[in-house]
Amino acid sequence: MGTNMETLKGRDLLSLADLSTDEIQQLLHLAAQLKAGSVKLRCNKVLGLLFYKASTRTRVSFTVAMYQLGGQVIDLNPDVTQVSRGEPLADTARVLDRYLDILAIRTFKQQDLQAFANYARIPIVNALSDLEHPCQVLADLLTIQESLGVLAGVTLTYLGDGNNVAHSLLLGCARVGMNIRIATPAEFEPDNKIVEQAREIAAGAGTEVTITHDAEAAVKGASVIYTDVWASMGQEASADSRIPVFQPYQVNEQLLSLANADAIVLHCLPAHRGEEITDAVMEGRQSRIWDQAENRMHAQKALLVSLLGAE
Ligand code: CP
Ligand code: NVA
Repeated sequence: MGTNMETLKGRDLLSLADLSTDEIQQLLHLAAQLKAGSVKLRCNKVLGLLFYKASTRTRVSFTVAMYQLGGQVIDLNPDVTQVSRGEPLADTARVLDRYLDILAIRTFKQQDLQAFANYARIPIVNALSDLEHPCQVLADLLTIQESLGVLAGVTLTYLGDGNNVAHSLLLGCARVGMNIRIATPAEFEPDNKIVEQAREIAAGAGTEVTITHDAEAAVKGASVIYTDVWASMGQEASADSRIPVFQPYQVNEQLLSLANADAIVLHCLPAHRGEEITDAVMEGRQSRIWDQAENRMHAQKALLVSLLGAE
């Protein structure tokens, strides 16, 4: 059975901007069908996971998605493979290409993902880099569509660090015709190149990309409130010094009360309760955080089947 997603077969997903609006919409549609059980697909292939950073959700959701499709997964723990002993990336990529059907990589530098993609012919998927987290944002868009019934015209406000998740949200929201506001402390704004890229995409749809330091103004009129940790993996040394700087961007009940009354709250997780988000908001009626985590699996199942083709 086909997926009507032939344009994605054999491709890499390194940045959310690699996907067209139509491709994102088709992926979300397929993910919703897979979640509902109205479509059943098989894909008897082998996925490799090469993760240089910790992961709970991405590792488990990719693994379960592949198992449910009838495929298999190999965890290529860098500590027990030759990559930790300095085997060049170009050699590793060409060897893994001969064994695996698809490879998801979690790493630091976006350039390393690009290098893997250049040397390996199989699809390479960005399972989080310092620059982007595209798989996360596919699940986020699925969650927003499910909760609000629509994406186009919706305003999402992201509060906190202008990090990998913020970057993929900028590109993803722009692609699907949402307005996006990023509220960060000075010095923690998102990468300028990504903001410009998002603005170019948004110009086509007539939507807005706003970068601000004013958390309260950014939240007013928003239907989706999103946050992430203030210090990402690899930034642990500056975690304590960031806390007072980021405090005005904490998603708490007072800040949330300024958003639309029916606004939903998202967090990619893991969360630092009491820092970027309070317990009360995480556990409150507006939180869709657990659905969002579940949706990683459905969105990635749609992605795997689209990149690999279904049987
Ligand atoms: N949100 C996310 O990517 O979680 P993990 O780091 O647990 O994979
Ligand atoms: N910005 C976070 C996301 C974790 C899923 C990090 O990179 O650590």
